[in-house]
Amino acid sequence: MEKHRFDYFVSCPTGLEDILNSELLAQGAEHTVIQRGGVAFTAQEQITALKVLLRSRVASRVFKQLYSFECHNEKSMYQELADIKWNTLMDVFQTFRLTTIFGKLDPQREFFTNSQFTNLKAKDAIVDWFNDNKGRRPSVEKDHPDISYLLRVDDVKDGIYKVQLMLDLCGNPLSNRGYRRVPTEAPVRENLAAGILMLLAWDPKVEGLVDGMCGSATFLIEGALISGDISPQWLKLKDWKKNMRPWAFLSNQWFTQDENLKKAFSDLAFNQLALDEEGLKRLESETPTLTGGDADAYVLSAAKENVRVAGFSKIIPLIQSKAESLPAPLKKTLFVCNPPYGERLQAGEDEALRALYHDLGENWKKNWKGHRAAVLTGNLPLLKSISLRTSKRIPLYNGDIECRVAEYQLF
Ligand SMILES: C[S@@+](CC[C@H](N)C(=O)[O-])C[C@H]1O[C@@H](n2cnc3c(N)ncnc32)[C@H](O)[C@@H]1O
Repeated sequence: MEKHRFDYFVSCPTGLEDILNSELLAQGAEHTVIQRGGVAFTAQEQITALKVLLRSRVASRVFKQLYSFECHNEKSMYQELADIKWNTLMDVFQTFRLTTIFGKLDPQREFFTNSQFTNLKAKDAIVDWFNDNKGRRPSVEKDHPDISYLLRVDDVKDGIYKVQLMLDLCGNPLSNRGYRRVPTEAPVRENLAAGILMLLAWDPKVEGLVDGMCGSATFLIEGALISGDISPQWLKLKDWKKNMRPWAFLSNQWFTQDENLKKAFSDLAFNQLALDEEGLKRLESETPTLTGGDADAYVLSAAKENVRVAGFSKIIPLIQSKAESLPAPLKKTLFVCNPPYGERLQAGEDEALRALYHDLGENWKKNWKGHRAAVLTGNLPLLKSISLRTSKRIPLYNGDIECRVAEYQLF
């Protein structure tokens, strides 16, 4: 007998697709297909997707594919959507959000030229179905909906379009780990920071980690999570234990009506929480090798608060310091940082930034021999001010901003 297959799509920051693919395979995903900005996969059991959701460090969101069909235009898409029995997916009293994205589409196409219009037609199909069949309309909610759908439109050929309807299992993106309580300027997304450490093949058993311009302490906190083999969803797992609903799938009918799956998830989550506690204890018993600081006193206090919320006050000591004069620790260390790069530069700021990048490089040359450094920046010309040869240059996106990670082996 052929087993049922479930289809999923996991999104991630562009540039981290290969890392995501490895993470998915490690959790039992099958038939992975790497796309720009994410990876599609199939699984024989639904729990695989929930393992991915709990354990992937670079995933932004996990989507479950609900329907896939071909159509000619927005009108026939509406008809296909209107045939879905929407009450098997949601309750009329649940609020929902629908987002439409256009995938690969012919620039000369006749239909599907405006994603907002497509989105409106698709939303109408849902609302009209409930109105016709249940005599009530569900409400659309932009910020905190109970159910969140994603509609993706791609070309097939000769005026035929493929439409995929997916369900967002996360709600709040997985990158929002929950430890960044105090905002600081231009923080790196948490999953991007974790992905950069993974792209740099940072191994906590071999190297310590210093972020001399730590801002909200994202690199260091993600580094601690990696070192302790702690789930990136640790804080949300603790919320779940208190009967909160940190992920959207906990309110989805496909989950709530499947007792076996609910039990399997509960076992998975409790097991993960126990592993996370063990990981934290192990880290606390070791000499800290994750450290750093920031030049700005306010930013440093924000970083300390975030570290405290993450549960790592004993693991990540921070000091107010200038990155360009930080001395190297004894243990071999990766100095990772994301210096300011001035999106909208004031007069004179460019020169100050060039001097800062230059001085960072000079400190590494003089005081960090035998270690490794990596700089994430969205201002590529500034890298030229570091007079060291790069051993790797990795293109990435921090939100919409094209960035580079430059790596330096310091001899
Ligand atoms: C782009 S932010 C870093 C963001 C950080 N990666 C995060 O995820 O929040 C740059 C940080 O560098 C700090 N900074 C600027 N000049 C510095 C210097 N000379 N030494 C140390 N920190 C500095 C700023 O206060 C700011 O917090």
